[in-house]
Amino acid sequence: MEIEKQLKSHGAWIGKWTFILAASGSAVGLGNIWGFPYKAGTNGGGAFVLIYLGCILVIGLPIMISEIIIGRRAGNSPVNAMRRVAIDSNQSTLWRFVGWSGIFAGVLILSFYSVIAGICLNYIFIAASSSGAISSPDQFSSVISSPLNLLFWHTIFMTLTALIVSAGIKDGIGRMVKILMPMLGVLMIFMVIYAMINGDFSQAMTFLFAPDFSNVTSDTLLQAMGQAFFSLGLGMGSIMAYGAYMSKDQNIVTNSFTVASLDTLVAILAGIAIFPIIFAFSLEPNSGPGLVFVSMLSAFNQMQFGQIIGPLFFILLSVAALSSSISLLEPGVAYMSEEGILSRKRSAQIISFLAWVLGIGSALSFNIWSDYQIIAERNFLDSIEFVTNQILLPLGGMFIAIFVGWFMKKSLITDEMGSINPVLFFLWRFFVKFIAPLSVAYIFYKQFF
Ligand code: TRP
Repeated sequence: MEIEKQLKSHGAWIGKWTFILAASGSAVGLGNIWGFPYKAGTNGGGAFVLIYLGCILVIGLPIMISEIIIGRRAGNSPVNAMRRVAIDSNQSTLWRFVGWSGIFAGVLILSFYSVIAGICLNYIFIAASSSGAISSPDQFSSVISSPLNLLFWHTIFMTLTALIVSAGIKDGIGRMVKILMPMLGVLMIFMVIYAMINGDFSQAMTFLFAPDFSNVTSDTLLQAMGQAFFSLGLGMGSIMAYGAYMSKDQNIVTNSFTVASLDTLVAILAGIAIFPIIFAFSLEPNSGPGLVFVSMLSAFNQMQFGQIIGPLFFILLSVAALSSSISLLEPGVAYMSEEGILSRKRSAQIISFLAWVLGIGSALSFNIWSDYQIIAERNFLDSIEFVTNQILLPLGGMFIAIFVGWFMKKSLITDEMGSINPVLFFLWRFFVKFIAPLSVAYIFYKQFF
């Protein structure tokens, strides 16, 4: 029957490093440089950081390996990949709804992601023209207070995302990440060194790495777990879609380790670049989403050549955001185009338009809708972020772990794993079967029941 339906192919990653670069491009983004520092800040620092690292290792990494296994085995978009692997494992095709929930979550995330990335674009110009004074939180407030300004940059960013995804996987995505990701890495290290010399380094280290568990609540756990899923880009099929374009001779486990380590490294580097500045200039560590903008702009304003390095930083941050946003759009676009419903270009236009419309709500929640609450005292943006990061992604990830751990045929898994140390394989399987799903379930239970 349908099993053999030949779906349109999307092409593949060319070259040994392209998967790693594209997957790191997907992982490293606003989540690391904007999200991680401000969430660590509002959640009190060290304890959050430690729980976050734990979630990456115990939940994130095993699930990342699982997602890639499914993707590469099937070679299709997440909806069809889940369906196909379920069929090959004699399981219900209802598993495809994990793919559907991913497409849905991807559109929701893309909607607010583009608004924040738009602010980064805006800051390229702000950083080029400001100097001297320490940037104050008021300055950030004035940027976000104009709905038209936010909508303008949101539109630009969403258009760029749609254009790259339209161009297809190897020309559009593969090419960009090659030069710009390494550049971002170099600039992050530069910022860390600057912060070590000019900031309050010791206070920052204490804040980030001396855990105080006394204030840890179930909400801290949920936020740290959500952040781990978000930062690695898990639970919605991004990495599953990318895995579908990965060649068979690549090792899934080592690639996953590399991507997860790079992602974690960039988040930690961002923290070490930002907090010394925050403390040295007496800014508030728990000031929320404006944290990276206010602190980095202050640093650039004080620094020699800040008007050159500042814009460069925000350019690279915008590119990092672009290489992530395309992976949010890819699962839906890949599905529609492989089914022959619409061309790749049309699918990209339509899905990004949906996300753009939803994003208007997030742009307005910084200003005229700021008092308008949707879920438990959260404004529009925070509500969408809450539903995706803290519910849909962990849930999607949990189902993926359960599927691979309990339902997928073992021979299919070992085929994809290739040669792997048996102890490592056993460990991974144990984590996928028990530890990862139970951890997610436990954190949900603590928070919601
Ligand atoms: N990981 C990216 C970041 O940290 C965002 C992202 C890309 C993402 N793909 C995803 C988040 C899939 C959740 C799910 O900025």
